[in-house]
Amino acid sequence: MNSKTTTSERRVAVVTGANKGVGFGIVRALCKQFNGDVILTARDVDCGQQAVADLNQEGLRPRFFQLDITDTGSVDALATFLRNNYGGLDVLVNNAAIKFRRNANVPYSRRIKETVGCNFFGTLSVTRRLWSLLRPHSRVVNVTCSCISSIIDEFSQDLQTQLQQPDLTMAQLELLIQDYVRDGEMGIHFRRGWPTDEYAVSKVGACLMAAILSREAVDDSRGDIVINACCPGHVRTDMSRYEGSLTEDQGADTPVYLSLLPPNAASPRGQFLAKRTVVKWW
Ligand SMILES: NC(=O)c1ccc[n+]([C@@H]2O[C@H](COP(=O)([O-])OP(=O)(O)OC[C@H]3O[C@@H](n4cnc5c(N)ncnc54)[C@H](OP(=O)(O)O)[C@@H]3O)[C@@H](O)[C@H]2O)c1
Repeated sequence: MNSKTTTSERRVAVVTGANKGVGFGIVRALCKQFNGDVILTARDVDCGQQAVADLNQEGLRPRFFQLDITDTGSVDALATFLRNNYGGLDVLVNNAAIKFRRNANVPYSRRIKETVGCNFFGTLSVTRRLWSLLRPHSRVVNVTCSCISSIIDEFSQDLQTQLQQPDLTMAQLELLIQDYVRDGEMGIHFRRGWPTDEYAVSKVGACLMAAILSREAVDDSRGDIVINACCPGHVRTDMSRYEGSLTEDQGADTPVYLSLLPPNAASPRGQFLAKRTVVKWW
């Protein structure tokens, strides 16, 4: 730590779900490129501390903080830690997510509730709770998935119209995704026009979340708060059953690029990117 910098002035980046996979690659890259502390978070303390120890072996010095994005107490504790130790936040990478195997013997009601609960509502909970801590020029990245483009046509025309409203609000989006969970619980989600792939729906929600919060950030007096969504590509991780073509470091490239966008960059803002390129997905 620079001896002239007090802890509360020091810049800080947080990565969720970073004990393995793409999140681990993002922490590794940020430790090398970000001018400040990098907080590796994980829901499992042992896994998180092991990941920090592995990076220590490479000469990198992330800090660890336990975070389960579906546990509001855990999210609150992170917010308190950041406020007390840094007085703010500069980079938030919402990477944590789950995905059930297609052939997993799990009822749709549970698949939808848990997947959307983590990937959409968990991500929203962390982002909302930490939003007030964001300093000017801070960067927020929702790690989503290119699968969003291919399921758009599976939404009913009515749902497409509602989700595509240019002035869609967070409250409206939340209500729609809550409807999806409720329809799933009642076993009527197909009849109501929702797609089959709950993971892709959760990622559509996380992309729309970035677009909506980006619109709201325009009027934020702090200035230059930028949020985007991106796909890491097909990465060899537990989630992909190690079938991807990319390493975790290659998968980290676009999320890290968005985390380190220079001050006052005109674009991208509120967009979805893959391979550092804006993709019109809807
Ligand atoms: N791999 C790909 O090809 C690919 C493609 C497109 C998009 N993505 C996206 O990239 C991101 C990273 O995926 P990955 O492939 O690295 O997956 P992964 O290896 O399965 O890692 C997911 C991470 O999220 C954590 N996590 C899950 N639920 C959590 C919760 N409630 N609170 C906190 N952390 C939680 C996991 O923790 P545990 O270890 O405790 O389970 C793990 O650290 C995800 O957003 C994923 O959707 C991946």
